Amino acid sequence: MTEKHGHVHQGKSTQNILNAHEVLQSAGIKLGDVFLDAGCGDGYISIEASKMVGKQGRAYAVDVYLESIEIVKTKISDNELSNMEAVLADITESIPITDDSVDHIMMANVLHGFVADNELKPVMDNIDRIIKSGGIFSVVEFRKIENSPGPPFNVKLSPEQVTEILSQYGFDTIDTQEIGKYHYIVNGVKKL
Ligand SMILES: C[S@@+](CC[C@H](N)C(=O)[O-])C[C@H]1O[C@@H](n2cnc3c(N)ncnc32)[C@H](O)[C@@H]1O
Repeated sequence: MTEKHGHVHQGKSTQNILNAHEVLQSAGIKLGDVFLDAGCGDGYISIEASKMVGKQGRAYAVDVYLESIEIVKTKISDNELSNMEAVLADITESIPITDDSVDHIMMANVLHGFVADNELKPVMDNIDRIIKSGGIFSVVEFRKIENSPGPPFNVKLSPEQVTEILSQYGFDTIDTQEIGKYHYIVNGVKKL
C-alpha cells in the first residue's frame, strides 16, 4: 500500500464475526444482480454474493491490496465461480467498471477509513458513476461502542452519520439493521 492512505487495514477480514449470507440477506441482494464488494479483503462476502446472484448475475470483488486480490482470484478458480471477478483498484482513484452498470454496491468495514482520511468525495463520485439509478448502496460498519472490536471509537461511525453521508451523496436510506454481535447495516437507494 502507498503511504497516501492513513487508515487502510489491508489483509483484515471480519469473517470470524460476520455471516456473509446474513449480511447479504440484510442488504436485500437479489438473483440476477450485478453486485460489487468495494474493499473486499479476502472476498468472503463477494464469494457468497456470487452464489446468491446466480448465473444471470455477476459479483465483482474490488480491493487496493494486491495480496487480497490474489487470494480472491485463487478462491474464484478453486471454486469455479464463473460469474465472479477480482479487480485490483484504488477506489479513491477509479473503479474500472462501466458507467451505470452495477445494481448493488457493498462497503463492509471500509467507509469509516475514507471518512477518517478525508477521501469520501472521490470514492462516492466513483460509486455514483458505476451504480445504476435505483441501485442499492449498503454500508456495513462496527457499532459505535467503546471497548469493543473494530476501529478506534473516534473513527467508528454511527448509523446516523452513515445515513447523513448517504443523503449527501444522493442516496435515500431504506433501512438500518443490527447484524451479528458488533455490526449494523445501512441500506440506501440511489435517487432517480
Ligand atoms: C477492514 S478491511 C475489510 C475487508 C472486508 N470488507 C471485510 O469486511 O472483511 C478494509 C479493506 O478495504 C480495503 N481498502 C482500503 N482502502 C481502499 C481503497 N482506496 N481502494 C480499495 N480498497 C481499499 C483494504 O485493502 C481492506 O481489504
